[in-house]
Amino acid sequence: DQNRATVSLNTQRTVAEISPLIFGGFAEHMGRCIYEGIYDPGSPLADENGIRQDVVAALKEINFRIMRYPGGNFVSGYRWTDGIGPKEQRPRRRALAWRSIETNQFGPHEFMEFAREIKTEPMWAVNLGTGTIQEAADLVEYMNLPTGTLYSDLRAKNGHPEPYGVKYWCLGNEMDGPWQIGQMDAATYAEKAVQAAKLMRWMDPTIQTIACGSSATAMPGYPDWDLTVLGHAYDHIDYFSMHHYAANPYPTISNTERLPIDTDSYLASSVHFEEHADTLAAAIRVSKAKRRSKKDVHLCWDEWNVWYRAKGGDGEWSEAPHILEEEYNLEDALVVATWLNTFLRKADIVKIACLAQIVNVIAPIMTRKDGLFKQTIFYPLTLFSNHASGYALDALVRAPLRETNRHGPVPQLDASASFDPATGKGAVFLVNRSQTQPLVTHLCWEDEAPQSVTRAWQMSGEDPFAGNSFEQPDNVVPYEFTPPRLEGRAVTLELPPLSFTALLTQHA
Ligand code: AHR
Repeated sequence: DQNRATVSLNTQRTVAEISPLIFGGFAEHMGRCIYEGIYDPGSPLADENGIRQDVVAALKEINFRIMRYPGGNFVSGYRWTDGIGPKEQRPRRRALAWRSIETNQFGPHEFMEFAREIKTEPMWAVNLGTGTIQEAADLVEYMNLPTGTLYSDLRAKNGHPEPYGVKYWCLGNEMDGPWQIGQMDAATYAEKAVQAAKLMRWMDPTIQTIACGSSATAMPGYPDWDLTVLGHAYDHIDYFSMHHYAANPYPTISNTERLPIDTDSYLASSVHFEEHADTLAAAIRVSKAKRRSKKDVHLCWDEWNVWYRAKGGDGEWSEAPHILEEEYNLEDALVVATWLNTFLRKADIVKIACLAQIVNVIAPIMTRKDGLFKQTIFYPLTLFSNHASGYALDALVRAPLRETNRHGPVPQLDASASFDPATGKGAVFLVNRSQTQPLVTHLCWEDEAPQSVTRAWQMSGEDPFAGNSFEQPDNVVPYEFTPPRLEGRAVTLELPPLSFTALLTQHA
């Protein structure tokens, strides 16, 4: 039947335990993310640390479990020592990555305070562009060692005697990109990453390290870069990073050529997302097998989002330029939901993921002096992050195939599900990708039927390009509806075209 789908779930048929760290974010010194977004001393909305409390409240709603910092491209020219000590003595510099002036008023201590306020785990990237392996190890010393050495004592002098204990460390960022400060070839990067990881681990053996994968599937070096880096660095890393952005129209790497708008293909873009993860998972397995290693390396999907590459700014060197302030719409929220579905479907290999980014630049939250509004993508993030827990289920989906230009025939329904045996809570996430066809969907639990479907939300609309703004903050938001009634082990519900639905279940 062309308008019907079935989803079969079995709480015993799992993909893997869900790592809560897949619900992560990324805060870069870029545009108005840090300055004016997170940090705005003097604002009536900021606390005594200068941190915007309305932003903190919105970020806590999303419930980010890990936060990558301080870049991104920014990190490849960043001197961390600029960001410590008395604020009036911190240097102003040109930040070359984003053509801006960096005041260094927000640095390591301010970030750790912010992470504490939003209750998230910090994930730190070291500079492997202009930075040395020694500077990377010094930063680990500064952040993590008990007092008694030069940099740990300096941390104490700067107000924090207790070690911060930062566990997750990215070995540079996108070092394959011609836009990167200090771009390198794969073999040179792999060797520098190994040497940095060695020193950083000698400083603190408890840390976990993440090596850079190639920065996009469109890069000419993809996936050779990945095979080379994994082949050389496998024993020294715990995670391998991947970055993936898309938009409608698809941006090209050069960003000069624009392809036509193609909503059907865009709504099916998790196909490409998934292929990317599968390729890197295979590269990891090959590297593991080649060295007969017992150790696992997982994917750290530490940059992902819809990115139109909105320009903005006037090109002058200024503080917090208004760049890359993307506006999101309904189709973006649906695409984000399908990508979050992908994370659950790949829960065995994807153990960390960071939305790039969190405030103002490429972000679910947009601020101005007197407040903020939540973009459409805010909502699927919040529903997944707060309700997907325990184990990802291997959902069997049968749905009509719809032809797309970029991805061929793709199922109209995109789905994922979770179940937590500890609490008996389940969640099902469904995206009807069609712009025109409703889908009668039959959900069936093969083993343990839920006692009830406890809550249900839906986000949908007729205009894929409708979004929110300061003037219309609630134009596209999910609405809660009466959960469908269980009939035996199943529920049936009609999913409207262009919709995202989240259902929560309670099992015995
Ligand atoms: O998230 C924006 C930028 O995208 C990051 O700085 C960089 O790593 C990537 O190219």
